[in-house]
Amino acid sequence: MCGIIGYIGKKRATPILMEGLKKMEYRGYDSSGLAVIERDGIKCTKKEGKIENLEKELPTMDLDGVVGIAHTRWATHGEPSDEHAHPHWGCKKDLFLVHNGIIENYPQLKEQLIKEGHKIKTKTDTEILAHLIEKYYEDEDVKLEQAVQKALQNVKGTYGIAVITSDEPNKIVVARMGSPLVLGIISDGEYLIASDVTAILKHTRNVMYLEDGEMATVTDEGMEVVTLDNKPVEKKTEKVDWEIAQAEKKGYPHFMLKEIMEQPEVVLNAIRGRMMEEEGLAHLGGFIEQKGRLAKINSITIVACGTAYYAGMVGEYMIEEYAGIPVDVEYASEFRYKKPVIDENTAVIVITQSGETADTLAALREAKRKGALTLGIVNVVGSTIAREVDAGAYSHAGPEIGVASTKAFMSQLAILALVTMFLGRQRNMSLVMGQRILEELKEMPKKIEKVLKQNDEIKRLAKKYYKSPSFFFMGRKYNFPIALEGALKLKEISYIHAEGYGSGEMKHGPIALIDDKFPSFFLAPQDSVYEKVISNMEEIKARKGKIIAVATQGDKAIEKIADDVIYIPKTIEMLSPMLTVVPMQLFAYHVAVLLKRDVDQPRNLAKSVTVE
Ligand code: F6R
Repeated sequence: MCGIIGYIGKKRATPILMEGLKKMEYRGYDSSGLAVIERDGIKCTKKEGKIENLEKELPTMDLDGVVGIAHTRWATHGEPSDEHAHPHWGCKKDLFLVHNGIIENYPQLKEQLIKEGHKIKTKTDTEILAHLIEKYYEDEDVKLEQAVQKALQNVKGTYGIAVITSDEPNKIVVARMGSPLVLGIISDGEYLIASDVTAILKHTRNVMYLEDGEMATVTDEGMEVVTLDNKPVEKKTEKVDWEIAQAEKKGYPHFMLKEIMEQPEVVLNAIRGRMMEEEGLAHLGGFIEQKGRLAKINSITIVACGTAYYAGMVGEYMIEEYAGIPVDVEYASEFRYKKPVIDENTAVIVITQSGETADTLAALREAKRKGALTLGIVNVVGSTIAREVDAGAYSHAGPEIGVASTKAFMSQLAILALVTMFLGRQRNMSLVMGQRILEELKEMPKKIEKVLKQNDEIKRLAKKYYKSPSFFFMGRKYNFPIALEGALKLKEISYIHAEGYGSGEMKHGPIALIDDKFPSFFLAPQDSVYEKVISNMEEIKARKGKIIAVATQGDKAIEKIADDVIYIPKTIEMLSPMLTVVPMQLFAYHVAVLLKRDVDQPRNLAKSVTVE
């Protein structure tokens, strides 16, 4: 995700800011920029691509200022470009801002600001915020922190921001709502601000964490923290005892574990601003633009690879059940070479984290050639696939660094639920059903949190089973794709042989492998196929196979059949994969750690598969 760093003190700000940006590179970014207060005003530069591109600009700029802000951007609104990189500024170009997060109501704010005469140049939500602060700062009696406060009272969404102005050259104002910010105290009169503690650890370990709804005014005389409605806040200084490498992973030993743990927030980001609860509708901007064509489609083909393909399979169950449209899910690598029967009444949905997977891109181009409506569920903004689809919805999972996909998958499931609602409500889905799905989707972050709390228990299971040379993963209906995903996660990071099956298929061959040394995972939430899955478990038990079940909270009966049980909270059937997949991810993770595998970069794999 994006990174913020700011410095105020007596030293030249630029080298400190650049060093901070480099420390945040691991987070993933597509552009970077900085603004420094000089004697003759603020100087700013920003560049798409690597930080070296920004660095090349610096020698010509002669930056001596001791106050500045800088940013690494990971695009959410508007493709990666020099123009879209941060900092952004208002009309007078004397107030500069960097921002992490998403301003949800920026279209409304933009419209209002344009009416009031502001000239908006970019597609970003951040530029709107710069103009909004500028508007409140026009009044001569208003100080920067007051203007920021007033502006933020009009903002809906998430933000961590840092603002500077040449009118008050000895000040940085920062504020936080849903996007982290930490204040670092180097000495009296010398401070750093950052979105990520990694960026400041070289200079200080004394920090203050801003909470949501708080803002701070930082000058070379000290820091003052207040709430957004201006109530003073007493803050304590804390000591960070992490090493830099640990801090990059927020203290987690691996990116994969960090990303698994981020999933509650990932779901929030995926659904934020996209739910119209009263109307029971999904608000997906790109889909709304195509709503005429979407109302007419009579079939859907989902194309994707690997984990994204399994998300697509869950989508197939969702869309067929709730929108009544026939869905085909195809491996992109197969789709590109077959003769797909699609036409202008087909919507082809491509699902991809990176937006660059060669097979998925080729399949998309083939679908376009055939005249289908192409829709993307893409994580990386501005990626090739995001640019080439007719419309789409970004997953907003943030950069995924671990090679094994976890949080991107979770966000894809959340978006697919919204897509299902969008299509379903255009057809026969009732208002009440729409509301029910949204209500449950909203609860999902808390429920995922409950599953994550069982991390220690899952680790214990990993210790019990990690020496097994093979595993089966089984489920039915919505949880059949999760069985496939569970097997994929285990094999790709632990190198243990694992296969996923629809549990009804067992007796058609694979059951021959079962003996008392062969463990099977069963995904058995209490849903419409529960009894069937239990029968399949009995078949394994009768052959002395070991069983680990993922079951619904309160299902004590399952303990009589399974050797071990992991419980998940109750939810509606179509959303249960968002809960059952979490133990799969954690189990694979712990087994890989026990086997001393390279969890984040497993052998033979790449994060983005840009070759055929
Ligand atoms: C597995 C994994 C891969 C990707 C696949 C598609 O953990 O990460 O199977 O899901 O290579 O990648 P994207 O989603 O970038 O198209």
